[in-house]
Amino acid sequence: LCLPSAYVISDRKGGAVVKTITLLAFATISLAGITAAQTGPAAPAAIFEGTNTLVRPVGYREWVFVGSSLGLSYAQNPEQTRNPGAELYHNVYIDPAAYREYSRTGKFPEGTVMILELASAETKREPGLQGSYEKEFVALEASVKDSKRFEGGWGYYGFTERGGTLKAKADPFPPGSCWSCHNQKAATDHVFTQFYPVLRAVAPK
Ligand code: HEC
Repeated sequence: LCLPSAYVISDRKGGAVVKTITLLAFATISLAGITAAQTGPAAPAAIFEGTNTLVRPVGYREWVFVGSSLGLSYAQNPEQTRNPGAELYHNVYIDPAAYREYSRTGKFPEGTVMILELASAETKREPGLQGSYEKEFVALEASVKDSKRFEGGWGYYGFTERGGTLKAKADPFPPGSCWSCHNQKAATDHVFTQFYPVLRAVAPK
C-alpha cells in the first residue's frame, strides 16, 4: 500500500536518491506496524463473568499441546477396572502466552489456562491393523491460575453436561474435588508436568 505513493513522491522530484530514501522510510514504517501487530498484548485466555464464572475457552486446539495419556488415574477404582477397555485418552493444552512465559522462567504466570480434553478409546485388532486411537471427545475441563480469585492459586472447571453436550460457562469446583489432588500429586505448581514431556523439555535448566 505504501509503495505506490512513495513512487509518486519520488517521481515528482525525479532524484534516484530521494526515491530510495522515500522507499526505505515507507518500508521501515510498515515493518514497524507489522511487528507491533504481532507482539501486541493478546486477549486473556481466561474470560470470567461475575465473580468466578469462566466462559468456556474456545480455540484451544490451536494452543500448545503438552501431553497425552491413556487411562492415567490416581483413583482407587480406575476406569479400566470398572469397565475394561473404557479408559479415556487425556489430551492437555496450555495457552501460548503461558507456554512462552513458562519456557522463559519455569513458572506458570497469573492467567495461565490449561485444558484437559477427554476422548474415548477404540482398539482395533484385525488382520493388518492393530492399536488404539481416539474416537470421540467426551469431556472438557480447564484450570486457571489466578491467585486473586482462588485461595490455592488455581481454579478448576468442567464444561460437560450429562450426555456430553458442552456448557457455555461454568462455576469452579470446590477445592476438595480437584485442587487437593493437584496440590498433593502434581510436580510443578499444581500442574502435572511429570506427565508432560513438552513442558519438561522447554523448562529452563
Ligand atoms: C485424584 C487426582 C486428581 C483429581 C481429583 C483431579 N485431577 Fe486433574 N489431573 C490429574 C492428573 C494425574 C492429571 C495429569 C493429566 C492426565 O490426566 O493425563 C490431571 C490433569 C488435569 C488438567 C491439565 C492441567 C494440569 O493441571 O496438569 C486439568 C485442566 C485438570 N486435571 C482438571 C481437573 C478438574 C476440573 C478436576 C475436578 C473435577 C480434577 N482435575 C481433579 C489428577 C487429578
